[in-house]
Amino acid sequence: MKRFSLAVVSALTALATTASTGAAAEKVTLYCSAQEDWCQVMARGFEDETGIKVNMTRKSSGETFAQLKAESANPKGDVWWGGTGDPHLQAAEEGLTEPYVSSMRSELNDWAISQATSANDKTIGIYSGALGYGYNKDLLAAAGLPEPKCWADLTKPEFKGHVQMANPNSSGTAYTTLATIVQLFGEEKGFDFMKALHVNINQYTKSGSAPIKAAARGETTVGIVFMHDAVKQAVKGFPITVVAPCEGTGYEIGSMSIVKGSRNLENAQKFYDWALTADVQTMALQVNAFQVPSNKGAETSPSAPDLASIKLIDYDFTLYGSSAERRRLLKKWDEDVSVLPQ
Ligand code: F6P
Repeated sequence: MKRFSLAVVSALTALATTASTGAAAEKVTLYCSAQEDWCQVMARGFEDETGIKVNMTRKSSGETFAQLKAESANPKGDVWWGGTGDPHLQAAEEGLTEPYVSSMRSELNDWAISQATSANDKTIGIYSGALGYGYNKDLLAAAGLPEPKCWADLTKPEFKGHVQMANPNSSGTAYTTLATIVQLFGEEKGFDFMKALHVNINQYTKSGSAPIKAAARGETTVGIVFMHDAVKQAVKGFPITVVAPCEGTGYEIGSMSIVKGSRNLENAQKFYDWALTADVQTMALQVNAFQVPSNKGAETSPSAPDLASIKLIDYDFTLYGSSAERRRLLKKWDEDVSVLPQ
């Protein structure tokens, strides 16, 4: 009897120790704004390598930014991985993310580090990719439409009802589109362009890559997306042609940030360091994620759009990554564009 109760006591003590050290509850909450399948690969990969449980949810960049703001008094997330860089910069400016300098920095391209230095180390670049659009060539031919090559082509009357893009309030892709058009054509002409484009839009989606998935399924002719998202559909065998618009185009520095007030800060930093390694960034290829990786040693697919051959604008991340400019542009788009009849 005495031996039995001693065994019970030691078992209870072991349980209590586990509970107090938290060893049984190692976890990290990941807010993911890259493509869903890549988010899954990252979550499972980190769990397998570290045993730390990852609670992952995928939401678009603007939605995650709004969620961080809404939760700021009682943060629930630990790491925000992926999504366009602008809202990461805006989150940094609004004090929603933590500074962190990873030992992996020396392995990264300059553009990834400058994203960090411009935000007092509250974010960092993890990939890059150019904006453009893709079209379903079968639908285009069936509708007797000319091959679009430029941004301006998408505003022609014959494209009415044929173009899809995301809503810039929820989607980082669509915010990048709005900011790109304003930088390319100037504020006034840029908004005229957005108004003319609006007439041709069949749907504003929540997520940035949804329009090209719809084009692949034959539900829209054109989808305005990052070119790597269009390439992904073409590689899957869908009749998608990828376009780098003739006037030039903008690009993203997809980013990662640690949530201010993270309850699992050590695990968040572990994830952050892990996500910057060459091997982990190469895992993107498992799901045909064709962004340019920030780690210089990570592999890039030959199918990935070659940024050097695309006419890229000198995207002003400082201005378009600022909270005031985001609010101003979105308000103007909401009031002057989205309400117009189609
Ligand atoms: O699908 C991948 C991707 O285009 C990323 O390159 C980008 O950072 C992210 O999606 C943006 O998604 P959203 O427009 O939904 O915020």
